[in-house]
Amino acid sequence: MSSNQKNIVIALDGPAASGKSTIAQIIAQKLNFLYIDSGAMYRAFTWKMMQNNINIDNNTELNELINNTHLVLKKGFSIKVYVDSLDITTKIRDPEIDRNISIVAKNDLIRKALVKLQRSYQKNYNIVMDGRDIGTIVFPKANYKFYLEASIEVRAMRRFQELIAKGKEITLEKIIKEMQNRDHADFTRTIGPLKCAKDAFRIDTSELSIEQVASLVLNCIKNKGNKS
Ligand code: DC
Repeated sequence: MSSNQKNIVIALDGPAASGKSTIAQIIAQKLNFLYIDSGAMYRAFTWKMMQNNINIDNNTELNELINNTHLVLKKGFSIKVYVDSLDITTKIRDPEIDRNISIVAKNDLIRKALVKLQRSYQKNYNIVMDGRDIGTIVFPKANYKFYLEASIEVRAMRRFQELIAKGKEITLEKIIKEMQNRDHADFTRTIGPLKCAKDAFRIDTSELSIEQVASLVLNCIKNKGNKS
């Protein structure tokens, strides 16, 4: 790659539990790209806000928090999330974070800071990034764009099984309700809403295995079929 050629970006967007992060990690590993979980950034910020009891409507407090938060994603066997040197990888998956994240994700100041951080990774790496607005706002000129979706029943069951495996006590009904609320917030917020980019390759993962989705994505990349 010549020095003035930009690094490659593969964007994956879609609602919660549509399979984005699993597929993004497989693709990144196969292509030897860096995987960036943008949702983990919003989760980490939500965790920090909750720890500090910040009033999100107070821009002075919020700006101070943004300027004093050191957020790092470290590549390991799986991605590790650090805030101010503290490993919060497990904490950010807590259902309590899911309940509070929509307020954080619709905040203009926080989105601006996180979008800037997300864009910075392209300077040094070929990346696979997943989220809600990656193909539309963060990298509108991404080389490849994918939009993954699945029915609410399938997505809720995936999340239910993940949480039960971690020993959490939660019902499927509660997960469906909370996921519907989060979907609504993700699709309807004014800044950075969840949207399928016009030039994204759209995949319904409801009836597909992880391997099937991964090979669809990889074939699409090989055939440069992203501009369908
Ligand atoms: O991908 P996830 O479920 O871990 O994301 C958690 C939340 O973070 C999601 O409901 C909305 C927010 N988010 C966002 O607003 N923009 C992104 N690019 C990624 C996540």
